[in-house]
Amino acid sequence: MKKPVTVTITGAAGNIGYALAFRVAAGQMLGADQPINLNLLEIPAAGAAVQGVVMELNDCAFPTLNQVTATHDAQVAFRDCHFAMLVGARPRGPGMERKDLLLENAKIFSAQGKALDAVASRDVRVLVVGNPANTNSLIAQRNAPTLAPDRFTAMTRLDHNRGLAQVTERAAVPLAQVKRVIIWGNHSATQYPDLHHATVGGKPALSVVGESWFKDVFIPTVQQRGAAVIKARGTSSAASAASAALDHIRDWTLGTPDGDWVSMGVPSDGSYGIPQGVIYSYPVTCKGGRYSIVQGLSVNDFSREKMLATHRELCEERDGVKDLI
Ligand code: NAD
Ligand code: LMR
Repeated sequence: MKKPVTVTITGAAGNIGYALAFRVAAGQMLGADQPINLNLLEIPAAGAAVQGVVMELNDCAFPTLNQVTATHDAQVAFRDCHFAMLVGARPRGPGMERKDLLLENAKIFSAQGKALDAVASRDVRVLVVGNPANTNSLIAQRNAPTLAPDRFTAMTRLDHNRGLAQVTERAAVPLAQVKRVIIWGNHSATQYPDLHHATVGGKPALSVVGESWFKDVFIPTVQQRGAAVIKARGTSSAASAASAALDHIRDWTLGTPDGDWVSMGVPSDGSYGIPQGVIYSYPVTCKGGRYSIVQGLSVNDFSREKMLATHRELCEERDGVKDLI
């Protein structure tokens, strides 16, 4: 067994937190040989509920769970943590856009950015799940000036996985045959799910699924999938979101498979003409614990327009929280 690492999950008594904590504790994120110290951060009002989660975690007797701590103090929760999974935030309801949550949730991420800055391990990897995830991640990053900016990421892996699932169903092939889907931009209805570089069984995906299905069905289905789940369940996606969060951290830490990539919201660095200053979803490969934005992909006019539109929305969100960044 390796030395334990500390994973902090915020909002651990919530829908996603409850679906996530057990899988992380069971070793499904970092491997069966990696002991985990699990820190659960909740608000005081959820103190009893999170104690119930602690009881159940202990009752699972996972060999990988070294220690579990629940707290409402961010400085305790993030102390020396290597992985910070920032889930705790208000979810949207029917008829809302994710950015409608910005003003309410933004304060959570400025406070947590400061706490991470003060006490987290210097190589912490931060994943923001709470919506609007990209801009919340930017807020946390800007409030943590002593941590490397590239440690702050936002979750678009759920959109990526949704894209894989849609293509798999359309092409009637096993999931493993679908590769190189891309989510560009914001985790919002302006995101651009792109199949121009995707392959199905080694063939160009667009030749398999058809250009009109891509434009008329695939793009809006992936963009609106979160709302469709809310409409069906009455509450937002939880198990699939937890699964995507786990995929995000696992691949960032342990690496992406050869010949494929994943989508992550990461600080824009000018790649593909997206200026620095937002957290933008790109195709990335991961190796040795670091991610790299895939370079050199061709971008046609159709894609360019959509990539810029989602960037514009991120700039608007950022302008709406100027005081916090
Ligand atoms: P939920 O309401 O079930 O749970 C949220 C939990 O966070 C609650 O238990 C609450 O007490 C806790 N919380 C609130 N403020 C907190 C704080 N300051 N510190 C710690 N904990 C705090 O919501 P959920 O369904 O688990 O969703 C959580 C967030 O994730 C929402 O913002 C939702 O929109 C978002 N989400 C994002 C994605 C994505 O793909 N990026 C996917 C699904 C959901
Ligand atoms: C999702 O994509 O399922 C989440 O962001 C929840 C939402 O509000 O859509």
